[in-house]
Amino acid sequence: MTSNATRESTRPAERPRSGTLLAVEDLRTVIHTARGDLKAVDGVSFTLDRGETIGIVGESGSGKSVLGRTIMGLHTTGPTTTISGRVMFDGRDVQSLGPKDLRSLWGSQIGMVFQDPMTALNPVKKIGVHLTETLRKHQGLGRTPARERAVELLDLVGIPDPRRRIDQFPHEMSGGMRQRVVIAMALANEPALLIADEPTTALDVTVQRQILDLLGNLQAEMGMAIILISHNLGVVAGRADRVAVMYAGRVAETADAKTLFADPRHPYSEALLRAIPRLHEPPHVRLAAIDGAPPNMVQPPVGCRFAPRCAYAQEDCRTVLPELEPAATGHLFACHHPVNRGEN
Ligand SMILES: Nc1ncnc2c1ncn2[C@@H]1O[C@H](COP(=O)(O)OP(=O)(O)OP(=O)(O)O)[C@@H](O)[C@H]1O
Ligand SMILES: [Mg+2]
Repeated sequence: MTSNATRESTRPAERPRSGTLLAVEDLRTVIHTARGDLKAVDGVSFTLDRGETIGIVGESGSGKSVLGRTIMGLHTTGPTTTISGRVMFDGRDVQSLGPKDLRSLWGSQIGMVFQDPMTALNPVKKIGVHLTETLRKHQGLGRTPARERAVELLDLVGIPDPRRRIDQFPHEMSGGMRQRVVIAMALANEPALLIADEPTTALDVTVQRQILDLLGNLQAEMGMAIILISHNLGVVAGRADRVAVMYAGRVAETADAKTLFADPRHPYSEALLRAIPRLHEPPHVRLAAIDGAPPNMVQPPVGCRFAPRCAYAQEDCRTVLPELEPAATGHLFACHHPVNRGEN
């Protein structure tokens, strides 16, 4: 009864349409590994308004997925992990919720599209079962209405012939179709926040664009906020209101998307921008790769984590860890010697 009442009080139509939805405050996720304590997320702060999209971008291993999972409450303090800082979702401290409240949060308020769609789909269950299970559990729907709603959801995410597809197994679908199913599952209970972790990796460019457009359309319809995680700045371009560039578990730079693309101040953001393929360049132009590799997060460098790879690094970069410094409104960058100084 109580959980049903909670769920109904948060149905989309009754939700506020503006204001802060999520506040991440100095979040740290330390994973205890055989090699030592790995600082996967190391002091991340940002806020997200209802209906807003933030793009989280960074190279492989920068902590994007661990951040997404920690925000959801999938990582909690225990034998393998220690969390500090806070995740406030709609006024509630996610880390303080017990397993029952967490499940109800995932069922009604936060949806996640996981990085690998196959891990989210059980190969021995038909597509329909994946959807009806969550609909029956969190919305209390009976068998037939749940199936009807599942067909609607498959239609909503652009799956042709949903009445036939609903009885297929995941392996009978293409990668793009499976990704649509995973999105349908994440949206089944019309969450206020969708965390989309590399929702288009491993898909060809055309399908990639279709899926991203789909997310944008559904967002406009449902008014949900999105955390769009990608290793590719090009994916978040034109889709995120704000961008946070992550490097080695920390936010190197954050700004509204337009400012970040036009005027990156952190050398790492500048390098990532140079690595985006451009349509007007002939196909034989080699992309600028960023030399070197990200640091070992068990023993990260003392100063700036990016210093060993940074063309502009000076002595202080190797000794003093730069913090995010407020510059122009809302444009923050953690760098002692920012690039493009005075060019804005
Ligand atoms: N369960 C785990 N056990 C041990 N280390 C982990 C675990 N999950 C993540 N890590 C480590 O935490 C760091 C951050 O990983 P994470 O998966 O968040 O990176 P990412 O930015 O999502 O990368 P990618 O772009 O490849 O998805 C990496 O060094 C990774 O090896
Ligand atoms: Mg990841």
